[in-house]
Amino acid sequence: MGQDALMEPHSSTAGIFQCKISLLLFFLLLLAGSCLGLKVTVPSHTVHGIRGQALYLPVHYGFHTVASGIQIIWLFERPHTMPKYLLGSVNKSVVPDLEYQHKFTLRPPNASLLINPLQFDDEGNYIVKVNIQGNGTLSSSQKIQVTVDDPVTKPVVQNHPSSGAVEYVGNMTLTCQVAGGTRLVYQWLKNGKPVRTTSTYSFSPQNNTLHIAPVTKEDIGNYSCLVKNPVSEMESDIITPTIFYGPYGLRVNSDKGLKVGEVFTVDLGEAILFDCSADSYPPNTYSWIQNTENATYVIKYGPVLEVASDKVTQKTTDFMCCAYNNVTGRQDETRFTVIITSVGLEKFAQKAKSLSPLATITGISLFLIMSMSLLFIWKKCQPYRVIKQKLEGRPDTEYRKAQTFSGHEDALDDFGIYEFVAIPDASGVSRVSSRSVPTSDGISGQDLHSTIYEVIQHIPALQEDHPEPGNS
Ligand SMILES: *[C@@H]1O[C@H](CO)[C@@H](O)[C@H](O)[C@H]1NC(C)=O
Ligand SMILES: *[C@@H]1O[C@H](CO)[C@@H](O)[C@H](O)[C@H]1NC(C)=O
Ligand SMILES: *[C@@H]1O[C@H](CO)[C@@H](O)[C@H](O)[C@H]1NC(C)=O
Ligand SMILES: *[C@@H]1O[C@H](CO)[C@@H](O)[C@H](O)[C@H]1NC(C)=O
Ligand SMILES: *[C@@H]1O[C@H](CO)[C@@H](O)[C@H](O)[C@H]1NC(C)=O
Ligand SMILES: *[C@@H]1O[C@H](CO)[C@@H](O)[C@H](O)[C@H]1NC(C)=O
Ligand SMILES: *[C@@H]1O[C@H](CO)[C@@H](O)[C@H](O)[C@H]1NC(C)=O
Ligand SMILES: *[C@@H]1O[C@H](CO)[C@@H](O)[C@H](O)[C@H]1NC(C)=O
Repeated sequence: MGQDALMEPHSSTAGIFQCKISLLLFFLLLLAGSCLGLKVTVPSHTVHGIRGQALYLPVHYGFHTVASGIQIIWLFERPHTMPKYLLGSVNKSVVPDLEYQHKFTLRPPNASLLINPLQFDDEGNYIVKVNIQGNGTLSSSQKIQVTVDDPVTKPVVQNHPSSGAVEYVGNMTLTCQVAGGTRLVYQWLKNGKPVRTTSTYSFSPQNNTLHIAPVTKEDIGNYSCLVKNPVSEMESDIITPTIFYGPYGLRVNSDKGLKVGEVFTVDLGEAILFDCSADSYPPNTYSWIQNTENATYVIKYGPVLEVASDKVTQKTTDFMCCAYNNVTGRQDETRFTVIITSVGLEKFAQKAKSLSPLATITGISLFLIMSMSLLFIWKKCQPYRVIKQKLEGRPDTEYRKAQTFSGHEDALDDFGIYEFVAIPDASGVSRVSSRSVPTSDGISGQDLHSTIYEVIQHIPALQEDHPEPGNS
């Protein structure tokens, strides 16, 4: 299509017998010609026009010589036909072909051509030739291909079946319809990205139909049809085909209780809510099934089940949640076990530090009884005097150090380390009252033998922080 400036140098002194020299000369003349000569350029060799509108074919030319006349000629050619003369000009006078004089406009020395209005039969190649009359004649031409189109109107997508399709069973066909436009190129977009041919996606030869066979859950998305032609492009509204699928990912969760695998551990007396969920369209219908020794029976319909642990007769109960999609006809079920614990395993694991005061007191009391029994045995084995001698003459503040035994480290670390302190009551009750243990739960008392017993709890982490002598 594209032809660059032609040069026609009029003199050539190169002899045929001097091949090399003539060739060199030829290139030199070519160089000189492009400097002195005529150059015609067009911004684009292909111009797309819209039917019914004006089309402007810009042409630029330049030359470096003294011109006595400028001639511009426009020709039109279609494939396999003779070129037709449209119009021409010498200096500033235009000579049109009378057949086309109302359609084409030329304003010399401007070589650009205006076509108005553009029609489908104006499609073809337009050739512009510029002749400069000066010291000899310089001539150059260019060719521009013109296409004529109607702009695209907004496409409309229809899906079939519009009621939806069941995954792995049904197929879906999307059809793109455009009312107006020529040379249409169809493209399908899913969530804004082009759809390519895959094992399930196929297109009609024109690409105006997208066929999905079979549909899957992954095919759910926003589909649109993009239609282009050389002069315009339009995208349809988004269409979201209905695809029935599921249930997938069935799972049971509870609002409280400890879940380990499929076993929920619940404290006695607690009411617990179970929630069954699975991904599905349309939404599943849920049913809850209880398995007793021999029988299984549905206890509730709906996604939520409440179990009051005091109403469960057995300590271990098997349940099943069943999700059913009544359109795909598929169902899924999951089993789980509920164990009612009186110990409160969950609290033991998670809330060891915040044991209830009742539990603390019970623990301490138990320990006190144990320790007192131990003391009783010990006292039978060891003479009482030894203790008395060791303690005599010591300041009150150090009496704690005196005789401690049964430093007891228990697995129940939340109770800490306990010291049982036994002091022979030398100075009476006043000693007991003057005693204070700020950092620990101290229980003091007197037995029948006038000996003070104390149980002191040491929390292991805090033990170092309390120097023993300055504590009273
Ligand atoms: C074109 O104009 C030049 C001067 O600009 C003049 O010499 C020449 O004769 C003109 N040619 C025609 C065909 O009118
Ligand atoms: C030719 O005319 C058009 C307007 O009709 C103008 O835009 C363009 O610049 C002109 N070209 C030259 C080379 O003067
Ligand atoms: C015309 O061209 C000839 C040779 O091609 C050259 O000798 C002469 O000087 C040129 N005259 C002008 C006015 O450019
Ligand atoms: C879906 O398409 C497949 C292959 O094109 C065909 O065999 C099947 O019968 C179609 N199913 C339906 C429900 O139209
Ligand atoms: C589909 O379009 C809707 C709104 O038209 C938008 O809310 C949704 O996020 C889109 N989905 C995707 C996957 O882009
Ligand atoms: C149809 O679309 C496919 C992929 O999007 C593309 O490769 C092919 O060239 C298109 N065919 C036509 C006729 O547009
Ligand atoms: C369970 O079935 C066995 C025999 O199949 C029967 O002996 C037993 O009584 C049944 N238990 C209950 C609770 O129905
Ligand atoms: C499926 O179940 C829903 C309730 O979840 C009900 O509204 C719908 O009619 C049922 N459809 C069929 C085909 O049974």
